[in-house]
This record gives sequence, C-alpha cells and structure tokens, in this order.
Amino acid sequence: MASAMARGGYVTTPSDADPYIYQTGFGNRFASEAVPGALPLGQNAPQKCAFDLYSEQLNGSSFVVLPRSGIQHVWMYRMRPSVAHGPLVPADDINPAIQASFLATNPAMELVPDQLAWDPFTLPSDGEKKDFVQGIRTVCGQGDPSLRQGLAVHMYTANRSMDRRAFCNNDGDFLIMPQQGRLQIQTELGWLMVRPGEIVVIQAGIRFRVLLPDVDSGKEKAARGYIQEVFGAHYELPELGPMGSNGMALPQDFESPVAAFDIDEGSQWEVVYKLMGKLFSSEQDHSPFDVVAWRGNLVPYKYATEKFINVANVEHDQADPTVYSVLTVRSTVPGVPLTDLLVFTPKWIPTSNTFRPPYYHRNMSSEVMGLLYGTYGGSAHSLEPGGLSYEASYMPHGETYETWVSATTRELKPERVCENTVAFMFHITVPLLVTKATVGEAQPAPESQRAAYKPHFLERLSDVNTALTKAGAQSIAYEKK
Ligand SMILES: [Fe+2]
Repeated sequence: MASAMARGGYVTTPSDADPYIYQTGFGNRFASEAVPGALPLGQNAPQKCAFDLYSEQLNGSSFVVLPRSGIQHVWMYRMRPSVAHGPLVPADDINPAIQASFLATNPAMELVPDQLAWDPFTLPSDGEKKDFVQGIRTVCGQGDPSLRQGLAVHMYTANRSMDRRAFCNNDGDFLIMPQQGRLQIQTELGWLMVRPGEIVVIQAGIRFRVLLPDVDSGKEKAARGYIQEVFGAHYELPELGPMGSNGMALPQDFESPVAAFDIDEGSQWEVVYKLMGKLFSSEQDHSPFDVVAWRGNLVPYKYATEKFINVANVEHDQADPTVYSVLTVRSTVPGVPLTDLLVFTPKWIPTSNTFRPPYYHRNMSSEVMGLLYGTYGGSAHSLEPGGLSYEASYMPHGETYETWVSATTRELKPERVCENTVAFMFHITVPLLVTKATVGEAQPAPESQRAAYKPHFLERLSDVNTALTKAGAQSIAYEKK
C-alpha cells in the first residue's frame, strides 16, 4: 500500500502578475498565522497571547444576529491594539468629493429622472498627485450610513501610492473594481493584488492602503476604477435554487489573503477614517499593519470575473440579466436585494427565434453600468472603459432603432458575445440621487436616437385590418397626416 497526505491547507500559487498566495472559499472561517504558534487554540482571548501579542476582535455584525450564519467577525493577534493611536481630527481637505447622505435634503444631490452617461472619468494630470483616498469621487447613491441602509457608487482615479497612510471606511463595505492599473492592497489581514477584471471586497472597519504598482513602474500614468459601497449589510453569493450547485460564481474562486505584518517603529503613520462621508485622521508612530495572526470570516476577498460560469436560457427568449449576478446584498425588505453585481463576460447566445439584444424595458431597479475592458455597444451611448451609464428607476430604455432593425432582420446563428470584454452592472432596486458635481460632466440624453424609432405597425395596417375583419372586429380607418 502506498499513501500520501497533504502537508497543509490549500493556498493558491503566486504568479508574475500577482505575487501573493490566497486561501480560497466564500464566507469561510479562515485562520492564518505569519508566525507558527501565534494563533491561540481552544479560545480566542487567552490571559496572555503567544509572543505577548494583543488579542483584538473586529465585529462586522451585531453580537446578536439571526440566523447564526449572519455573524461576521475576525480575531486579530497584533503587536499593538488598534486603540494605540493619536487624536482624531477632521480631515475633509484630504477629499471633499466624497458624499454619503443620499437624501433630498443634501444640496449636493440632484434628482435625475432621465438617462445619464459619462465618458471615461478624467485621470489626474501629471502635476497633480492623488492617492486612492484623495481620488474617490461619489457619483450616486441611496440612503445614508447613519441609517445603516443604502449604498453609494464612486469612481476612483489615482496616480500616487499611499505611503504611510491607511484608510478605514466605517460607513460600509467597499466593492472595488479596477479598470486601469493593478491595485496592490495591504489590509490588516494581509495583501491582495487586484487587476482589471478582478473585483475586491474590503469590509467596513478594516484598515487598508492601496499601492499602484503599474503607475510606480511607469506602465500606466494613473489608475482608475469603480467602487460600490453598501451601508449596514455585506455582500453574499446569490441563491442558486433549481440551478443547483455548479453555476455562476463558484465559492472556491474567491480568494482571501494570508496573515502578513510589518514592523515599522518610530515612523509617522496616518489612519484616515470615513464616518458618514466625513473624513477624520489620526496619527501613530507605528504601522497599523501589525497583525501577526488572525482567524474569522470578516476577511477581504477578490474574485476574477472571467471565471464566472454563465448560465442562461438556451432556447427561446433570454433570461433576465440577474442570471449574471456575482454578488448580492440584501435589502431590509425580505426576499428583495438592495443591489446585485452583474457581470457581462464572453458567452454563447441561443440560436432560436428570439430578439437577441436586451429587450426594451422599464424596471423598478436603477441600473449603473461600467466597463472594465473590451467593448460594449448597442445602446445610445457607447460605453467606454472608465465611463459609466445610469438608468433611473422605472424609466424606459433599450437598444437604438438601428440595433432593432439589425436584430429583427439578421440571420440567426450561434454567436459569441462580449468576447474579450468584462462589463458590469450595479442592479439597484431603489431610486438613486446623483451628485451635482458629476451630473455636470454627463452626456446629454440622446434625443435624436430616441426620435428615430419608426412605428412599422402603421405600414402593416392592411394586414392588421385583414386580421380584424377575419375575427369579426371593426377595421381601423387611419390616414397618415
Ligand atoms: Fe436596463
């Protein structure tokens, strides 16, 4: 008999593009120690921790949450407790473009009933240095973090790595999607490298800093990407129902960091906190990234959207786009999500009798779309990587007249769509308010395209009247003016 045994838990393998290893799985209770023996066994807060580390718990849910699966927390074993910091002082001058209160009483907000579209958001100029925190611009959102309800959509642009500055968003979880330039993210729980096409979630309360390896190496002039922030709730995988266990985003494709810590005594560090959209900063004389070991399920993770397993109707009509959901967030209404992240990646579309583009529609949900790379066309405004589009709740939209003509007359054959492309949509079930600052930069509504639709039904009136007469109904007398 021969036998073999694994020598440790599974972690991913580093590559040139990503030097880090990751633990895999979604929502797991992971454990990681950068020094063997640093994690206590049998308890979380022993009288004295190994190596005289401090034990500290970060709770991302209330202590009492039902069901138990809603508990999200992490125990950290660190060189100093986080409370070892200087006084908090207002720091809105770091970035006055962040908004958090999406209420009609906020004069920075505008109610936009129509469609909006933005060309790629402007990158910082060479003479202007912005790090990730300085480069966040709020576009739209709903609710308010003081209510623990709602969300925000931001863009970020940056051309400077965060040096001895960490960011901590106390308002909500950040879902970040780089569009240009990788993000090398140091968190209290370890490092992640995130490239365009990947998404990363960093939960509220976790301190992190963002380095820009492609900008620092001269490969890119600046980094740019998208952020969705949710207040008072966490991202989850959508339910699968009759689909079974092997479609959409697979849990094993989510990657969380391993423990990593720095020793940086006597250096001046700044931690910037975001509280209800306001920034505060505190200084300390040591690195906040001093967590030697941790265990828990409140852990950042990343996911490569190219791994998404598309499932869709293969006969007759197409499915609703929520079949492309990677992550979802529950609203306070049972059974109704607050937001779904949908990704549009390469796939085959069916060959049978169907109108292939997205059908014309009016949805309760607001839609915010962006493009990570590739091309995504068909609608009135061609979406470019780094640009954005917005469709207001219940307002009509759909393909151009030219696309309708093409889609209703072309030969149907098997077809690949979204080749070399990752587009995404924040499918948001609530109406949004848009920041006035970004409304001013948006493209006007496409009036000429809207006026182009022709009522071909009227050219078919003789056929219509034949059908009506045959059914014993009165024919239509209509003369074109
Ligand atoms: Fe839509």
